[in-house]
Amino acid sequence: MTSTFHLAPGGSLRGSLRVPGDKSISHRSIMLGALAEGRTTVKGFLDGEDCLATLAAFQAMGVPIERPEPNTVIIDGVGLHGLSAPSAPLDMGNSGTAMRLLCGVLAGQSFDTELVGDASLTRRPMRRVTAPLTTMGARIDTSEQGTPPLRVHGGQRLHGEHHTLEVASAQVKSAVLLAGLWSEGETCVTEPAPTRDHTERMLAGFGYEVRQDDRTACVTSGGRLSACAVDVPADISSAAFFLVGASIAQGSDMLLQHVGVNPTRTGVIDILRLMGASIEVLDRREIGGEPVADLHVRWAPLRGIAIPEELVPLAIDEFPALFVAAACAEGETRLTGASELRVKESDRIQVMADGLATLGVECEVRPDGIRIQGREMLGAGAIQSHGDHRIAMSFAMAALRATGPIVVHDCANVATSFPGFPERARGAGLAITAA
Ligand code: S3P
Repeated sequence: MTSTFHLAPGGSLRGSLRVPGDKSISHRSIMLGALAEGRTTVKGFLDGEDCLATLAAFQAMGVPIERPEPNTVIIDGVGLHGLSAPSAPLDMGNSGTAMRLLCGVLAGQSFDTELVGDASLTRRPMRRVTAPLTTMGARIDTSEQGTPPLRVHGGQRLHGEHHTLEVASAQVKSAVLLAGLWSEGETCVTEPAPTRDHTERMLAGFGYEVRQDDRTACVTSGGRLSACAVDVPADISSAAFFLVGASIAQGSDMLLQHVGVNPTRTGVIDILRLMGASIEVLDRREIGGEPVADLHVRWAPLRGIAIPEELVPLAIDEFPALFVAAACAEGETRLTGASELRVKESDRIQVMADGLATLGVECEVRPDGIRIQGREMLGAGAIQSHGDHRIAMSFAMAALRATGPIVVHDCANVATSFPGFPERARGAGLAITAA
């Protein structure tokens, strides 16, 4: 398994590329396909380890799932009451989305389940989902610190509640709405700021009514999901590495094809444009209830900005890449209101600051953000990704503006979201080898 990236400095990114399927949508396609009645076909599915963990979990709960070819999944849904008890704990690997959304599903089942994960996932906070589910009548045990492993007790009678979330989190919103499918009455979630709405859109696509009003989404139990065809767009969070790489490397010109541009996900485009990036959104279309477009990005000089806080939840996974853009921008970039970054696959504020410091970039770390002083060129050095896929890919792109080689350690988890990244990036012009 690939664990170290070696990068020669310089180069540019060119050509056209369709990055792998959207991770959030791929997870949800398995979950809703499994709970639907009938046969769901998913195309463009992300064959990354995170989504494969979700797929394996539903197979372990008795759902027939076939893989006729790469990126295609056929699910024979068992309906809302057709899951069966798995014979072993469900291993969610590195995936917070899989574990948190499954909590919502499992809280409403008749059987007990145990959810486990890798070292990174085992450090991540789970009370944000177990607490609202508990108020609905669920019983879920965590460690004393509120972390995995989780034991979800089945056979509980759930009842709908109106939750007002403190954290802007699509995972929490989704877990609660999914639990609402088995809860008596109406379940509503009001979020403090808009977050990705793929669960709401996909529930509607499977014929389940979701009532939405401003920042509130509600479902009522008693309905059913009907199988459908899901076409997963390319993941804007994976495209983001190329948006940043092409923006910082002189001479770059890339077309990123068929990218999901759901407005709850496009903060990275807005932030890069505020910094002066040249990104055109071409041929907007809607596919399977999700907006899709081609993104044309060309090199452009970037300038530092104060990132508007309302864009933070809309770009939450793209900050490692955006920090590299900030490090190559003229002047200072300031991020505030982003303490959530500290509880992702790694502490993305500290881990990025440490790596940028290795490359000679001056950073000031704050509890909820960072200040980054941009430079003309980045230095060389060895970076620790701490097993965080997005940290690894961000520093790979940093090599485009470095004066010497960059080595990124602990990159195996890139396969969680972007299988084939080194090959695809090399094809676009990045001087990367993986060993
Ligand atoms: C996701 C929601 C976000 C995001 C994660 C995927 C989802 O997490 O960071 O990569 O698919 O719902 P939070 O809900 O913790 O913000």
